[in-house]
Amino acid sequence: MKFFIDTADLKDIQEAQNLGVLDGVTTNPSLMAKVGVSGKENIRNHYKAICEIVEGDVSAEVLSTDYDGILREADELVTIDEKIVVKVPMIKEGVKAIRYLSDQGISTNCTLVFSAGQAILAAKAGASYVSPFIGRLDDICFDGVELISQIVDIYGIFGFETEVLAASIRNTMHIIKCAEAGADVATCPLSAITGLLKHPLTDSGLAKFLEDAKKMQ
Ligand code: G3P
Repeated sequence: MKFFIDTADLKDIQEAQNLGVLDGVTTNPSLMAKVGVSGKENIRNHYKAICEIVEGDVSAEVLSTDYDGILREADELVTIDEKIVVKVPMIKEGVKAIRYLSDQGISTNCTLVFSAGQAILAAKAGASYVSPFIGRLDDICFDGVELISQIVDIYGIFGFETEVLAASIRNTMHIIKCAEAGADVATCPLSAITGLLKHPLTDSGLAKFLEDAKKMQ
């Protein structure tokens, strides 16, 4: 399973990159706003800075909701860096744009996916990634991880090549459950990635080893 970091925070991206387990980055307008990036040129420069840190794919989301606008933005985004994946919302105009971009060989990430039906459409349109938001489903009493399993099964049956990118991950259990469900990618906040490190027996075991090591000196 690939690990993407779901943030626009350069410090967090650098920290995950330094850990040596990072495969890419996903962003969205809310995450860009959270780090105070605004204005066309600043947004472009921020994506450039992200691409300089990471080696893998960097999802950059379009703000338009009409076909022509999405394609215009996609054209600009892909000139930033070859790592850029154009993130497009799961709406009718978005699906049409994904079809077009995919036919042009441009990588896309279909976002705001909350059902297997939407995931089928994204794959049929040729999206490189589909992003089901599992945390937001859990928030409204639907099982987000169950949706990941369902999409993985369906894509397996038909051999769809679209990668299942589990998004809106809130904690380490989400990552583990998505791995069990066969998600190709988990995009997570830094805290969820570093949370995987933690186990009290590791801490107490290390403390004991270090204490005993003192006796050897
Ligand atoms: O990748 C999508 C993600 O940024 C949404 O997460 O926590 O706002 O539901 P959240």
